[in-house]
Amino acid sequence: MERIKELLESNRRWAEELKAVDPQFFERLSESQSPDFLWIGCSDSRISPTASVGMLPGEMFVHRNVANLVNHSDMNCLAVMQFAVEVLKVEHIIVCGHYGCGGVKAAFDDARYGLVDNWLRHIQDIMHKYEAKLAKLPDYETRLDKLCELNIIEQIVNVGETTIVQDAWERGQKLFVHGWIYRIAEGIYRDMKITVRSLEELDAMRDDTFKAETRPVGSVPV
Ligand code: CO
Repeated sequence: MERIKELLESNRRWAEELKAVDPQFFERLSESQSPDFLWIGCSDSRISPTASVGMLPGEMFVHRNVANLVNHSDMNCLAVMQFAVEVLKVEHIIVCGHYGCGGVKAAFDDARYGLVDNWLRHIQDIMHKYEAKLAKLPDYETRLDKLCELNIIEQIVNVGETTIVQDAWERGQKLFVHGWIYRIAEGIYRDMKITVRSLEELDAMRDDTFKAETRPVGSVPV
């Protein structure tokens, strides 16, 4: 119970510190939210989306699940996206994955953890899709890193293929979908430079068999 009490005490200190800088901060925040960003990331406890990019409450709408997956029958993820795009009118969706992702690794190793294996089946589909390419890579670590990158690319395509994003683009709403990858050992995000902002760009990205997919593993610049 002590650890739980510590959390509540820490929360009070955090709120006091924010109020010391801006006394009306929480009052203002309680009236509305208008974040510019939707974050779709992994649930991994070692990643802290808002804190790691220096954001305050109110600046980012967040959806997280194991291995940052977007699939078309996940009502939770779709509801978050729909509200973020159509109501909050976010301008950017950031799909953020990370090297060393436990979910990607479990799928890659065909490990058995229980119910979650079914969720990770989506990653195994990606793995099989790129099996030949992955097999050409020199070692296990490189293949795993590449699968983490490929997973982000595939999720960007999934985001772009939702009716939510397609309708937004069709009505001329400004909406960018970005792919980022994080290395826990560095604490640094890298933009995978595969941003799409229209149906044409999404199609081009697919036709191009994914620029990032042909890039050497781990070569994503900061
Ligand atoms: Co992860």
